[in-house]
Amino acid sequence: MSEGYVLPRTGSANDPVRLAILVSGGGSGLAALLRYQQTPRCHRTVLVLADKVDVGGLLHGREASVKSIGVPLPMEIEKDDRREAHERLVNAELEAADVELVVLSGYMRIFSPWFVKRWKGRLVNIHPSLLPDFPGAHAHRDALAAGVSVTGCTVHLVNEGVDSGPILAQREIEVLSGDNEEALQERVKMMEHTLYPEVLDRLCSGQISL
Ligand code: GRF
Repeated sequence: MSEGYVLPRTGSANDPVRLAILVSGGGSGLAALLRYQQTPRCHRTVLVLADKVDVGGLLHGREASVKSIGVPLPMEIEKDDRREAHERLVNAELEAADVELVVLSGYMRIFSPWFVKRWKGRLVNIHPSLLPDFPGAHAHRDALAAGVSVTGCTVHLVNEGVDSGPILAQREIEVLSGDNEEALQERVKMMEHTLYPEVLDRLCSGQISL
């Protein structure tokens, strides 16, 4: 299972691992991470990148004085080649900023094997369910439809599949009677906002091995 994964180097408060946080939306998780990094940690965000130019997450990055850019899909490129062309643009930004670890925080695109291979072990995601249950874009809706009494969130390394890479940590939460998608999402996000920084601390201080 650990084939091809290269984990980030061990950072320190004096020499933190350089993160890029990738978002597609409002970025509450991104904002929580940036707040956490206001105290020197073994990781520091040097780039916020979105797949659109007008998403809320970019504002959080700019408020924290972190370089924050939208890299939209290159619509001038033919559809079949567009995904990889976009990933090459994203990758160029990551390399230009000397990024060492890519943190997905509500980034709604699936990466091609080309991109995953380049970053494998240094590409991490948070997903709002207890994987392997309820992968994909509608985790809360699917969990409610299945009638589970416990759900949660998962931090995992990204592989070539969808929400299927090695699990680094999970946290559980009870589904309350009367929960709807929005209520559940908000409670899970609160948990995500503490879990993700904790896992990044472990990952960037050599405490995780595969
Ligand atoms: C989070 O629930 C995360 O698990 C999922 O997308 C959501 C992002 O929320 N992948 P936000 O944009 O950080 O508020």
